[in-house]
Amino acid sequence: MSGEDGHPARVNFRSALRRAFRHALEGLAADGVAAIGPDDIAGLLEQVRETADATFGDYSGTMAMGLAKKAGRKPRDVAVEIIRRLEAAPGYAAVFEPPGDPVGPGFINVRVTDAALAAAVTRAVADQRLGVAAAEAPLTVVVDFSSPNVAKPMHVGHIRSTVIGDALARILRFRGHRVITDNHLGDWGTQFGMILWGWKHCRDEAAYALDPTAELGRLYRLVRRVADAKPEELAADPAAAALAAQHPDAAREVLAETARLHEGDPENRRLWEAFMPVCRGEIDRIYARLHVTFDHTLGESFFQPLLAGTVRDLEARGLARESRGAVGVFLRGDDGPPLLIRKADGAFLYATTDLATIRWRLEHWKPDRILYVVDHRQSEHFEQVFEAARRWGLPGLDDVELVHVAFGTVLGEDGRPFKTRAGDTVGLEALLDEGVERAAAVVGSGDEGRGGMSAADRRRVAETVGIGAIKYADLAQNRTTDYVFSFDKMLQLNGNTAAYMQYAVARVEGIFTKGGVDREALRRHCAGVLVSDPRERALALQLLRFGEALEDVEADSRPNVLTAWLYDLAGCYSTFYDALPVLKAEGPERDSRLALCDLTGRVLRQGLDLLGIGTVERM
Ligand code: ARG
Repeated sequence: MSGEDGHPARVNFRSALRRAFRHALEGLAADGVAAIGPDDIAGLLEQVRETADATFGDYSGTMAMGLAKKAGRKPRDVAVEIIRRLEAAPGYAAVFEPPGDPVGPGFINVRVTDAALAAAVTRAVADQRLGVAAAEAPLTVVVDFSSPNVAKPMHVGHIRSTVIGDALARILRFRGHRVITDNHLGDWGTQFGMILWGWKHCRDEAAYALDPTAELGRLYRLVRRVADAKPEELAADPAAAALAAQHPDAAREVLAETARLHEGDPENRRLWEAFMPVCRGEIDRIYARLHVTFDHTLGESFFQPLLAGTVRDLEARGLARESRGAVGVFLRGDDGPPLLIRKADGAFLYATTDLATIRWRLEHWKPDRILYVVDHRQSEHFEQVFEAARRWGLPGLDDVELVHVAFGTVLGEDGRPFKTRAGDTVGLEALLDEGVERAAAVVGSGDEGRGGMSAADRRRVAETVGIGAIKYADLAQNRTTDYVFSFDKMLQLNGNTAAYMQYAVARVEGIFTKGGVDREALRRHCAGVLVSDPRERALALQLLRFGEALEDVEADSRPNVLTAWLYDLAGCYSTFYDALPVLKAEGPERDSRLALCDLTGRVLRQGLDLLGIGTVERM
């Protein structure tokens, strides 16, 4: 049987079973047993899933209950009708055991034959792609992620978009899609008004020459305090208080600096051009540490020349109109609040840029899907922008899926938004440093003095473990909920953490060093993986479900499906390894188990890599 991408080495059991179920359900409809329309099939096939308990088989189809209810029949009778057709479906018998009778109210439980399982896992061992079939229909997917507002320091909130977006891009790419990543920088906003004003009124040129990033950061923080003019903040910051006293009109002046930049004032434009590389340098340092790259970094400034035309076009189509000097798209009729695209003073808005960006991406990239990995607080913004874009009637947009991949807030251990003790947002760089420092205390300690890790190795390992911990803790969360940031939890060596997974990889791979086994040769010569022991079987099946996990990540843009699956894989492996001899086994059994270890190590490593997390030889 051939895999999804036509590659005979790759099989996705769940897809194969769903194909057989499709055949059965279509037969049921054709024979008039149940009223199933062509549009119902996809939803019904979603009800073919892996079982939670292997004693019930490997997969279970649960659609008989719903279908019977609609048809006014007994669920078991409908299940029997499905089973009869399932067994006869093309390709079914080559992979699956006969389902037997329905179980309970009408569950159809299916088991992969041991022969098919053994053959598939043996092929996966020899396969570069670890047995994972690529997506049947590759799509062009734009991933808009990270997208910080530059000129203010990146903080903990930015890590979620960066880490989740990067993982999704890697996973989609591995699935065979054409992925285009774009960092939609906020590089044109009011934060520039702050540093422009700060530069003009209180710059320290010597400090700027020495460390431009630090000086711009200082100006940003100082001017924000002055412009916000909150008494309690000013009381704590004498420099800001003095400046605020000198410039009672600072807030308005800051806005005027932004406006001058937007109008093309030469001095502000020149300063902006001088500041941008500094801002980029700052964020690029963080991306380098996170090993995150982008295909494009087209910030808001890039789209500015298109905004006037965007507003004109929306007006010409009768979608946008003036209201009290401003221009808005009236999505909820005349009474509802419009989506503003031009302010009364002529300034364009965040939504204007997003609309222009959609049109630009459509023209240049022809995507099938655009993912916006952005904080859940912007849900309404994206709902409105997507709706306005749809009504705009851009050519081709009807076939494009626009998805807001929203995520919750990062909380401190006190359950409040994550802040330093002084109440400041936590800088991303300081956070990474602390993670690495704490990791250094955990890794390599056992080896010290016993000819173990050198100081340099230890630093390298601590960097990988520390950064990995921060990323994994974020990715392992259901992205839509808020998550509590805890260094103690994320660095635990036990539990669903990066450190545990990295340790598992190091342990699996240590076997080959210990046994002096040539892995390449093993892959080429392994005659066949045996799945006779239930623990071997469970491990093999879990390994072969890697592709299903990735498919599920894609379906809902949820990387935590992959972390959960990897954690289960590590569990299957432990059960296997604790119960069965590997290096001490003999003959074909030894090769077979070593092959399972080899594949486990590679799949764990690949899985972590798809999450943007590195591995180490030992910890
Ligand atoms: N710069 C925005 C912010 O920091 C996020 C931009 C997200 N992407 C987009 N196309 N709107 O809130």
